[in-house]
Formats: sequence, structure tokens, C-alpha cells
Amino acid sequence: MTTTVQQTDSAVETNDEVILAVNDLRTYIFTRAATVKAVDGISFSLRKGETLGIVGESGCGKTMTALSLLRLVPRPAGRIVTGEIVLNGEDILQKSEDEMRDVRGRQISMILQDPQTSLNPVFTIGNQLREALGIAHKENKRSMLGRAVDALRSVNVAAPERRLDDYPHQMSGGMKQRVVGAIAMSCEPGVIIADEPTTALDVTIQLQYLRLLKEIQANTGLGIIFITHDFGVVARMCDRVAVMYAGRIIEQGEVRDIFNAPAHPYTQALINSVPKLEQRVGRLYQIDGQPPLLSNLPEGCRFAPRCAYASDQCLESYPQSYHMKDGHYADCWALDPAWQGTPIAEFIAPTGRTG
Ligand SMILES: Nc1ncnc2c1ncn2[C@@H]1O[C@H](COP(=O)(O)OP(=O)(O)O)[C@@H](O)[C@H]1O
Ligand SMILES: [Mg+2]
Repeated sequence: MTTTVQQTDSAVETNDEVILAVNDLRTYIFTRAATVKAVDGISFSLRKGETLGIVGESGCGKTMTALSLLRLVPRPAGRIVTGEIVLNGEDILQKSEDEMRDVRGRQISMILQDPQTSLNPVFTIGNQLREALGIAHKENKRSMLGRAVDALRSVNVAAPERRLDDYPHQMSGGMKQRVVGAIAMSCEPGVIIADEPTTALDVTIQLQYLRLLKEIQANTGLGIIFITHDFGVVARMCDRVAVMYAGRIIEQGEVRDIFNAPAHPYTQALINSVPKLEQRVGRLYQIDGQPPLLSNLPEGCRFAPRCAYASDQCLESYPQSYHMKDGHYADCWALDPAWQGTPIAEFIAPTGRTG
């Protein structure tokens, strides 16, 4: 394996198809007791029609990343302290709040993967769709009705005319997801972020949601950012993946490259902890220890305290980003050609993977 030393920002590419490029984004939460570095210098890009998975354990900064992309970080404590978020060629961090209102929904939109929390139980779905569409297109009531029907049809709801008067509780979970998808797509955004809820969501529901988004993507060239703690879901449905750990992206690249040859010991451990089909019983691989507090981060590699390969160098300074191949990067000192410590053991790809 050959590795070359690269600057961290080289993960951001600039070609015509890139619709979103994030460069060295840092979002901190300033509490009385401490500064929580929820997002601490991440860079990635998203191309038209691409599905990027952002994966990592709970509390690693995934939701704060999503909220940053929409400039909806909770105020006053939360603040984007530095970085660039270039959406369709413009840095949205330079935009006014008024300008941002036009960006949200129209260029970039977010949906929760839990349909239960996304629809208002006291309004019909026709009402909720028309409200979303009304913001997108300032038109009269009659054409809005047609658009609402079209919106439902676009997400493959059968007999959409008959659905408009239904209330959310009258619909199945899958149908509700479709309605939420229709609402999110009502302003025809180029990028959609699907964030997982705080409470654990069924993998089947996650996959169902991702399939729906991919149906929409096939017709529109939508860029999808899919946020999950489940590497199995990413492996089955995403094109590329960014692995987050303690506010940083520690590895990113094509899903097939990372799944077959994860370079970072943390990614290896994550992939090893994905349950296999034949493993109905028995032990799941567990990563010993806990991630560091984002209010009290170590100087060096954030994974070092849990890493079997960690050396003094790992504890002292944050590793550089190493380019493995074709946009596959990982931040780990053991990938340096001059590494003196224990070499990372060859990764044995898990068998019995579904997908
Ligand atoms: N309002 C808040 N005040 C203080 N800390 C917060 C707040 N919201 C989130 N955090 C902290 O920010 C970090 C990242 O959270 P989050 O982005 O929600 O993680 P994830 O979505 O990966 O589970 C966590 O350590 C969390 O405790
Ligand atoms: Mg979250």
C-alpha cells in the first residue's frame, strides 16, 4: 500500500458536479462551563446525484454538522466559528439571514427519518403539503391543489387525490414517510439532508427512507446526505461515506473502498461491529472505552486513548490526513511511511454482509 502525505483540505474537490463543498467547518457550543467543539474542522464535498453517508457514534457531531449546513445551529450558545460552506458556488456563511431564508428549502433541505415527529397530527396532509408548496410557489389555491397531487404522485403515492383529506394517523408509516419526502422536495432542493432521530430508529425504517430518497434522486439528480450511526445502512445504500469521530471526519472515501479496506483503526472497529446475517446470536465486536468529551479534547488523535496501535506521537499531535486512493483519506499516524510503531494489521473484510 502506498500513501502520500496530503493537506487536510485536499478532501475538497472542485469540479463542475460538486454542489456542496465544506471546508474546515468548525461549530462550537459555548456553555458557561466549557466550549463544546461539536464540529471541529471537517471538510467534504457532495456531487450532483450522489449519496454521502455520515456515520459515527452518538454525540460525535453529526446533527450539529447538519444544522450548520442549514445555518440553523441553536442560538445563542451555538456558533459556526470558522470555515466555508459552498453551496452551488456560493459560500452560505457569507449570506445574510434574509438570504438564507431563500437558500433553505430551495437549495438545501432537511428531513428527519422519523415520520412520526415530522407531520403535524392536527392537519390533513393536503393542508401540510399546500403550506409547503405555498412557500415554494406563490400561486392560487386551485393550481396548488394540482401541485399537491403531483407532489404525492412524484413519491409514488397511489390515488393521491384521495389522500389529501387524510390525517397522519390514518396513514401507514411508509406512507407518512412518502408525504414527508414530498414536503421536503416541494421546493425542489438540490441537496437533502436526512438526519436520524436521537432515539434509535429501526434499520428497516432507515432503509425504507433511503430507498424513497433514492427513487426521488433517480428522477432529479438530488444530492443526499444520509446521517446514521449504522455502518450497515451506509454500506448498502451510499456512494461515499465520511466517518466522524469526536467532531472530526477521520476517514472518508468511496463506500466500497472503505468497507473492503478501512484504513483507520476506528473505522475497522466500526465495520467489525456491524452485525452479520449469520450472526443471529453471539457477541458483537465492541470498542472498549468511550469517546472523549467534546469539551475536553485530547491534544493528539482523539481515538488514541482507545486505539490498540497508539504511540506517543498519537497522544501528542493530531495526525495528518493520508491519501489512500481515489478520494479515500484517513487521519492516522500509522499510515505515515515513516511510522515506527506497530503496523496496522491487514483488515479481513467481514463475510456474510447483506446488500
Ligand atoms: N444545546 C447544546 N448544548 C450543549 N451541548 C450540545 C447541545 N447540543 C448538542 N450538544 C453537544 O454537541 C455534541 C454533538 O452533538 P450532535 O451533533 O447532536 O451529535 P450526534 O448527532 O452525532 O449524536 C455532543 O457532545 C452534544 O452533547
Ligand atoms: Mg444526531
